[in-house]
Amino acid sequence: MTRLDPHSYYDTDQPRTCHLYLEWYIDFGRHRIEGSVTLDLEHPSGGAMDLDSKGIAVRSVYVQNGKAVPYDLAEEEPILGRRLRLHLPDGTTSVTISYITSPEAVALQWFEPEMTLGKRQPFMYSQCQAIHARTLVPCQDTPRVRVSYSAVVTVPEEITPVMSAGPEGRRQDMPPGVRTFLFEMPQPIPPYLLAIAAGDLTSQDLSPRSRVWAEPEMIERAAFEFGEVEQMIQTAERLFGPYEWDRYDMLVLPPAFPFGGMENPRMTFLTPTVIAGDRSLVDVIAHELAHSWTGNLVTNASMDHFWLNEGFTTWAERRILDALHGEETSALRWAIGQKALDESVARFGADSPLTKLRTDLRGVDPDDAFSSIPYEKGARFVCVLERHAGREEFDQFMRRYIKAFRFTSITSEEFLDFLEKELPGAAAAVQANAWLYETGMPPNAPIFQSERLDELTAAANAFACGQRPDPQKIRTWKPNELLIFLQHLPRELDPEALAWLERSFSLTRKGNYEILVEWLTITAGSGYEPVFSRVREVLLEVGRMKYLRPLYTALGRHPHTRALAGEIYAQGKAGYHTLSRRVIESVMEKYDEEKQ
Ligand code: BES
Ligand code: ZN
Repeated sequence: MTRLDPHSYYDTDQPRTCHLYLEWYIDFGRHRIEGSVTLDLEHPSGGAMDLDSKGIAVRSVYVQNGKAVPYDLAEEEPILGRRLRLHLPDGTTSVTISYITSPEAVALQWFEPEMTLGKRQPFMYSQCQAIHARTLVPCQDTPRVRVSYSAVVTVPEEITPVMSAGPEGRRQDMPPGVRTFLFEMPQPIPPYLLAIAAGDLTSQDLSPRSRVWAEPEMIERAAFEFGEVEQMIQTAERLFGPYEWDRYDMLVLPPAFPFGGMENPRMTFLTPTVIAGDRSLVDVIAHELAHSWTGNLVTNASMDHFWLNEGFTTWAERRILDALHGEETSALRWAIGQKALDESVARFGADSPLTKLRTDLRGVDPDDAFSSIPYEKGARFVCVLERHAGREEFDQFMRRYIKAFRFTSITSEEFLDFLEKELPGAAAAVQANAWLYETGMPPNAPIFQSERLDELTAAANAFACGQRPDPQKIRTWKPNELLIFLQHLPRELDPEALAWLERSFSLTRKGNYEILVEWLTITAGSGYEPVFSRVREVLLEVGRMKYLRPLYTALGRHPHTRALAGEIYAQGKAGYHTLSRRVIESVMEKYDEEKQ
C-alpha cells in the first residue's frame, strides 16, 4: 500500500482514474445533487480501489457490463471523510457509482431566491479546493490523479448552470420543466478544480475568448470592472507561454463566497467584493488568471506543496500587474502582501511548522492551515530566485518550468531537482532549504524599496502622533496608497482622529472592500459607534474569510463590541458558508480564552 497524499485514501498501487463522466440533477428544493459518476480507468484492471467520499450516500456501484460491484464504506474520519473501497473484477475499464450528496456537503452552498440579487431563482455553487471535491463526487480526491471530465447537468428550466469546462450545448429531448446542459473538460485537471454553479445567470462577452457571467442585476458593473481581461491574458502569455485552456470566463458569485477568487479552469469564480467600480481590485483577476499556468498547468502534488500553487501565482500576479500598470506601484503591492504575511506569522507564531513553505499536514485540516504564508513567503522565495538569476534568465526558466511540468502535479522536491538542473547553484545561493524547510522568514528575504511607500508609512506614523496629512495631497492618493496608509495606523484611534479620517476620505461609503474593511476594522477595534451599523451591514452581507477574520477579531477587543459580534453572528450564521462559520467560530473561541 502506498498512500502519498496525507489528505486522500488514494493508493498508488491501485487502479487509477483518468476520466470522470458525471450525470447530475441539481435538486434546489432538497439542497442536494442526485446522479452518478462513471470513473474510467487508465488501464483495464481489478482488485481493491479506494476512493474518497464525505457525506455521500451510495445507491449502487456497477462496472461497464452492468454487473454490481461489492463495496464497503469505512467509518468517518474527521478530516478525510469515509474511504469507499470498491472491489473491482479483473478487466474493469470503468465503474459507475450512483449516489446523492448531503445537504451539508462542504463543497456546496445553496441560496434561496430571497438571498440572491434578483430574488427570482435559487442559486448554488461549489468550492472544492482543497479537499472538498469528495463531498460532491466520490473520487480519488488528490491532485496526483488528474482527470478529464464530461458532465450532463439537469436543472429546473429557469436555471442556467456553468462549469469549469467547455459548454457543449443542450440536450433537446427533455421533458417540460427541466433543461439539460452538456459540458466537456478535455484537459486533465486535479479534482479540486471540478466546479459548478447554477442560478439566474446571464453573460456578456469581453473578448473573443472571454466573457463574464453574473446575475442580470450585476452584469453591467462586472463587465466594466473586468474589461481589461484580454490584455491581462496577452500579458500573461508573453510572460509564461501560451494560454492552454481555450476560454477564460469569469463568474461573479453571491457575496457569501468565502474567497476572493477561485481559479476553476475556464471559469474563474469571483466574490462580488472585487467589483469596486474603478477596477482597483483587479489584482484578484490577475491572480486567478495566473493560476492558469501556475496551479492549473503545474499543480501541487498535495497540500504539503501548496506554496508551489500560491507562491508562484502571487509572484506571477505581480509580474502581470507590473507589466500592465507599470512598476512604480509594485513595491506598494509587495508591502500590502507583507502586512498579510506578518499577520499570518503572528497568528501561528514565528516558530510554528505552518510557517514553513514545505509543510507536513498529516492530521491537519488544510482549511485550518490556510494563511498568507504559502502566498507571500512563497512569492518572496520566487522573487529571491528571480533576483539571483536576473529577470531575463529567470523568465526563460519559468517558461521551461511550465513547459516541463504542464498537466502534471509535482512536489517541492521535484521543483528543487528541476531548479538545480536548470539553474545550477541557485538553490544553494539563495538558501532554498531554509526557505522551504525552516520556520519563519529567512534573513535574505527581499526588500522592496520605494519613496512612495516611505512617505505613506511616515504619514501614518505622524498621524498617530496627532499630525494630519495635507488635504490637498491626500485627494490624489490612489486606492492602494490609501490602503497602505490605513494599514500602518494604530489599531485603536480616538473619536476625533476617526472623525477626521471619515471627513477626509468618506471611508464608510468606499466601494473598494480592501479599504472599507481596513477602515471598519480600525473603527470596530476602537469601539467607534457611528460606524457600527456599516460593520453590521458588511458582516451580514459578505462571507469572504479575508474580511470576516479581521472584523470579528477587532470586535473582540472590547466587551461591548464582543457582545455585538455575538449578536451579528447569530443573525448572519445561516447565510455564511461552512468555511466562513468555522473561521468566525475559531476567532470567537479566542475571545473566551482571553477573557479567562
Ligand atoms: N486557490 C485560491 C483559493 C483557495 C485556496 C481556496 C485554498 C481554497 C483553498 C485562490 O487562487 C486565491 O488564492 N484567492 C485569493 C486571491 C488573492 C490572493 C488575490 C483570495 O481568495 O483572496
Ligand atoms: Zn491563488
